[in-house]
Amino acid sequence: MSGKYLVTGGAGYVGGVVAQHLLEAGHEVVVLDNLTTGFREGVPAGASFVEGDIRDAGKWLDGSFDGVLHFAAFSQVGESVVKPEKYWDNNVGGTMALLGAMREAGVRRLVFSSTAATYGEPEQVPIVESAPTRPTNPYGASKLAVDHMITGEAAAHGLGAVSLRYFNVAGAYGEQGERHDPESHLIPLILQVAQGKREAISVFGEDYPTPDGTCVRDYIHVADLADAHLLALKAARSGEHLICNLGNGEGFSVRQVIETVRQVTGHPIPEVVAPRRGGDPATLVASAAAAREKLGWNPSRADLAGIVADAWEFTQKIAREQ
Ligand SMILES: NC(=O)c1ccc[n+]([C@@H]2O[C@H](COP(=O)([O-])OP(=O)(O)OC[C@H]3O[C@@H](n4cnc5c(N)ncnc54)[C@H](O)[C@@H]3O)[C@@H](O)[C@H]2O)c1
Repeated sequence: MSGKYLVTGGAGYVGGVVAQHLLEAGHEVVVLDNLTTGFREGVPAGASFVEGDIRDAGKWLDGSFDGVLHFAAFSQVGESVVKPEKYWDNNVGGTMALLGAMREAGVRRLVFSSTAATYGEPEQVPIVESAPTRPTNPYGASKLAVDHMITGEAAAHGLGAVSLRYFNVAGAYGEQGERHDPESHLIPLILQVAQGKREAISVFGEDYPTPDGTCVRDYIHVADLADAHLLALKAARSGEHLICNLGNGEGFSVRQVIETVRQVTGHPIPEVVAPRRGGDPATLVASAAAAREKLGWNPSRADLAGIVADAWEFTQKIAREQ
C-alpha cells in the first residue's frame, strides 16, 4: 500500500537514495532538508522539497503522513571531537524536536539512521546488536543518545521505530553519490586520487592485527541500504524499537579497497603510510543476521568492485557537470 513519508536529510547522500526508492515503490515523498551539507539537485524528481530545519518539523508535519525517515544529522567524526556541542545540538536536540512534532501530529512510525559508531571498539566481530555500546567520539555518542531517546518514545508514547546501524555506506544510485565536503570516507577519497584531485591516498596505520596490517571495514551498497529502509517501514510496530545492523558481514582492508579502485579505474593510486588515527578500531564488520531475520533483508550488491564502479561512475558524472 502506498503511503506519504517525510524524509529528513533527503538532499544528502543516503536520504536522497532512500527517497528515490520510496518514489519507485509508489509512495509520496516530502524531503525536509536545510541544505547544510546536502544538495538541492540531490532531491529526486517527484519528491516535494521543503528547505527547512528539523527543529521546525512541526510546521510541516501533520496527520496525513504515514511515517518519517530521519537522516538529517551531522556525521563528521573528526569535527565532532573538536566541536561536540554542534553534534549534541543538531543530532540530539534536532531529533528531540522532530519526535515532539511527530507526537503532536500523531505520526507514529520512524526509521532512524544510526551507526556502527555507537559500538566503539568491538570486543568481538562480527558485531551483533547486543554488543556493548561504548562510542569513542561525540558523533557516535550523539547517535547512541538518539537511539535511547527513541526507545523511550516507543515505550511511553507508542511510536513504532526501527534504528538501522549502518556500517560503511558506499556506491551510488540515481542522482546521489558521495560528495561530502570535507570528504572523510575511504572510497570517495581514493577516487579523488584517480581523478587527479589528490596526489596520494593516506593509509592510517599498517600495523593493525589484520591480515595485511591495515584497518578492515564492512562496505555496503547504498541501494541495498535503501531496500532495508523500505522493509523497516513495514516491520515497525507501535510500542517497539527495533535495532538492526546493516552491513554485508564481510570485511575488506584499506589495501584491498585501494587495489579494487586501481582495477576499476586503471589508475595507479599512490599510497602514503601515515600513523594510526586515534579511535580507529582494527576491524568493524557487522552481523546482519537480525536485519535478515527481522526485516527479511537480503543485500544483493555486496561485490566490492561493483560498489566501487558505481561510485566511480557518479564521481565522473559530477566532474563532467562542474
Ligand atoms: N554515509 C555513511 O557511511 C553513514 C554511516 C553511518 C550512519 N550514517 C548516517 O546516515 C545519515 C545520512 O548520512 P549521509 O552520508 O547521507 O550524510 P549527508 O551529510 O550527505 O546528509 C545529511 C543531510 O541532512 C541535512 N541536515 C543536517 N542537519 C539538518 C537539520 N538540522 N535540518 C534539516 N536538514 C539537516 C543536510 O543538509 C544533509 O542533506 C546521517 O544521519 C549519518 O549519521 C551515514
